[in-house]
Amino acid sequence: MIYLQDSFDEIVERKNSLSVKWDNYQPIFDKNDILPMWVADSDWKTAPEVIEKLKSRAEHGIFGYSYADDKIKESIINWINRKYNWKIKKEWIVFDTGVVPALNFTLTMLTNPSDGVIIQPPVYRPFFEAVDNNHCELIKNDLIYENGQYKINFSNLQKIIDDYKNNNKTIKAVILCSPHNPVGRVWNKSEINKLLKIAVKENIYILSDEIHCDLTYPGIKHFPTALIGDNYRDKIITYMAPSKTFNIAGLHTSYTIISDKKLRNQYKDIKHGFSSGNSPFGLNALKTAYNNGDNWLDSQQQYLKGNLDYTADYLKKEIPEIKLVYPEGTYLLWLDCRGLGFEKNENLIDFFNNEAEVGLNPGTWFGESGRGFMRMNIACPRSILKKGLDRINIAVKKLKG
Ligand SMILES: Cc1ncc(COP(=O)(O)O)c(C=O)c1O
Repeated sequence: MIYLQDSFDEIVERKNSLSVKWDNYQPIFDKNDILPMWVADSDWKTAPEVIEKLKSRAEHGIFGYSYADDKIKESIINWINRKYNWKIKKEWIVFDTGVVPALNFTLTMLTNPSDGVIIQPPVYRPFFEAVDNNHCELIKNDLIYENGQYKINFSNLQKIIDDYKNNNKTIKAVILCSPHNPVGRVWNKSEINKLLKIAVKENIYILSDEIHCDLTYPGIKHFPTALIGDNYRDKIITYMAPSKTFNIAGLHTSYTIISDKKLRNQYKDIKHGFSSGNSPFGLNALKTAYNNGDNWLDSQQQYLKGNLDYTADYLKKEIPEIKLVYPEGTYLLWLDCRGLGFEKNENLIDFFNNEAEVGLNPGTWFGESGRGFMRMNIACPRSILKKGLDRINIAVKKLKG
């Protein structure tokens, strides 16, 4: 089936749908009328095949406890093989209700209080929180921003590890965001290899959050860390989900891939009693999306590329004070707003909330190195995107007098 690009243009009213993004932004933005472009979900309907499956499952009328059977696992195995040429086994898959709880369980399993865990800001806030929740020491290896693009600071990473060792302290894990939210990098093979080399040498686990892996732009390829690091599999845990890909985050279906049997059993033990099973809706949506969603996803990616081009062009022509950090993946745009000239970050945030009335995530939500930046979600119909950019443009023109 071919999906027309027009179908992504459709405005679906999300207000009064219990949407965090559209109905629950007042506590964050303290406004009633902003245009929300923050939470990482999409403002269009999921694939029609998924909707049909959910309708028929709803008609069944019984929503008892559910489990993932072999057919569901096969849909994951085939998807990952088709997309990434990574051949996983069904017993490696552990079902979770979200990547964030899965990361928290993992750290509970791997760490003792005050062990070090490395993250690479600016990065998804719950990574900081997972480390704190587990009373570990948060070690920040900030990404380097150079010539408009981000890269991993490998020399600093090695230095941090050496300093820790010299102080007789232990670093247990690095959390990798691949693709990286919010800067939009899709780490390439050579970068993943470099990280693996250090992790292997230093005996550090790599927790690879690959939730955005299906959302890459043309010509960009995602490489699962555990595929590249096949020889080091027992120290790599992968987190994936159809949630961002197919806009089904509210159905709470993610999965964790752990090839090492001992580690996997430990993980299951840790979760036991703290995590409930998946819903029949989540499981059915996952299976249908992975088995029948390829064409829909291709169409979505084409539309997103259109949104990206539109935004890049708009900013260049109309608002050159805001520089787009051009992404390789994700629908989250990282905007360098330092050219707007706000000395204080609070004033930048206030400008977007109260002058432009557009709800973006402040860069500092992703760590101190996000100061002066804002994150914008472009997974919305182009007319909404245009409205958001127009609002920012008018506010900037007013600011500049
Ligand atoms: C990098 C990353 N990991 C995890 C999540 C959330 O995962 P979940 O909803 O499965 O807990 C997000 C959502 O924005 C994300 O960007």
